[in-house]
Amino acid sequence: MESKFEKIKNFWLDAGKTELDGDGLKPTARDPFMQLINEYHIENRLDSNDNVLDVGCGEGTSTIRFASSCKKITGVDYSPTLIEQAVAKKSGIDFKVNDVLELDKLFPTAQFDAVVSIRCLINLPEKEMQYKALDNLFKVLKPGGLLFFSEGYQLGWDMLNVYRQRNNLSIINVVEYNRLFENVELETYLRSKGTIREYVGFGDYLFGSRVTHPMLTNGKVVHDSPINELFYKQHISTGVYQKFDECSYAGIYVVQKSK
Ligand SMILES: C[S@@+](CC[C@H](N)C(=O)[O-])C[C@H]1O[C@@H](n2cnc3c(N)ncnc32)[C@H](O)[C@@H]1O
Repeated sequence: MESKFEKIKNFWLDAGKTELDGDGLKPTARDPFMQLINEYHIENRLDSNDNVLDVGCGEGTSTIRFASSCKKITGVDYSPTLIEQAVAKKSGIDFKVNDVLELDKLFPTAQFDAVVSIRCLINLPEKEMQYKALDNLFKVLKPGGLLFFSEGYQLGWDMLNVYRQRNNLSIINVVEYNRLFENVELETYLRSKGTIREYVGFGDYLFGSRVTHPMLTNGKVVHDSPINELFYKQHISTGVYQKFDECSYAGIYVVQKSK
């Protein structure tokens, strides 16, 4: 019988057979404005001398954007169909098929100045796999290098649902192929590997797009709507995101690996 890991891997294999899903959204980044927020914060923190690895790069759009903010970038993903899409963009970037659980086999030394992981490890179905993958991210990162870890976190998810219920909106369930990180456990692990330099939460955008927006539209929300674009622009231009940290189930941990 197909394991949950294989089921999820097949999901990403199928996802790469099309550029847009039935809703006209990119399967790898169904919320385009959250993706732009991720890209904005990461590109602003990369150094022009950095050799960067983007793990779980999907069809490579973000990797290609990051390339202009660093010296060199490599993208890896375990879905050959998504890597095919990335290569077809002819950006000159090295895109390779690789499972994050085997990353240390592809890159046996600590060679990257920065490692990016955007919504990749949440696709691993067991906690042990997620932390083995995290170990691998740190193994390929040079001492003193930066990990940009942008995944999904339980506390913010729960708080967002509290606010939704208070406003008579239904709870949002985590999709079957995602496993969120427990914040305290994750932060304890990250501190064992280095120093958490920042947490850039997306709480304002998430509250706007997942609570305010459906309140205005009787619960009906499309991710690429002008309302969400407004919350995205507000996030970028005013930096109010810290005020909604309790709702930030998505956000970037910037971790500097111990020297
Ligand atoms: C939600 S998409 C995000 C893609 C990209 N990081 C972005 O932000 O657009 C998750 C990606 O992680 C990849 N992925 C999931 N599990 C993986 C694994 N074990 N090893 C490598 N890639 C993986 C999937 O194939 C998919 O491309």
